[in-house]
Amino acid sequence: MKNTEDQNLEGPAVLKKEMSRRDFLDWVIKGGILATLSGMLFPALAYLWPVMGHGPKVDMEEVAALDEIPVGGFKKVFLGGSALLLIRTAQEIKAFSAICTHLGCVVDWDGPKREIVCPCHAGVFDLEGRVVSGPPPRPLPTYPVKVINGKVFIKL
Ligand code: FES
Repeated sequence: MKNTEDQNLEGPAVLKKEMSRRDFLDWVIKGGILATLSGMLFPALAYLWPVMGHGPKVDMEEVAALDEIPVGGFKKVFLGGSALLLIRTAQEIKAFSAICTHLGCVVDWDGPKREIVCPCHAGVFDLEGRVVSGPPPRPLPTYPVKVINGKVFIKL
């Protein structure tokens, strides 16, 4: 049989043990809530966070530096096995397939005339890719372009 002193000693010890268990459960619950909120907030913040020099989060590819293409000039690039023609106007960069829709020759940019020309059969396209003259049956395909931090990105 325990004396009263032993009973008094057990009381605070048991209480202390229960409090630490309660503290532990508090931490587990708080950690679970924090993890759940983080799991919900992180995707939302990642979606809303502006692009900060790492390129767009979407499936766009960097194809050139902006200063490689003077205003009024052009550059041909390859992306995913496709030949592309980038044209820089005073306002924007435009991206077209560099493959003529007639018989597949590679088109060029005629800066002074502001036309895309096909050397094979004199097909001519405007700055929207529309056929102006010649045998091409369809416009040139165009691609979305973004310029971020001096780099040109294209989505195929
Ligand atoms: S291949 Fe371009 S006009 Fe014929």
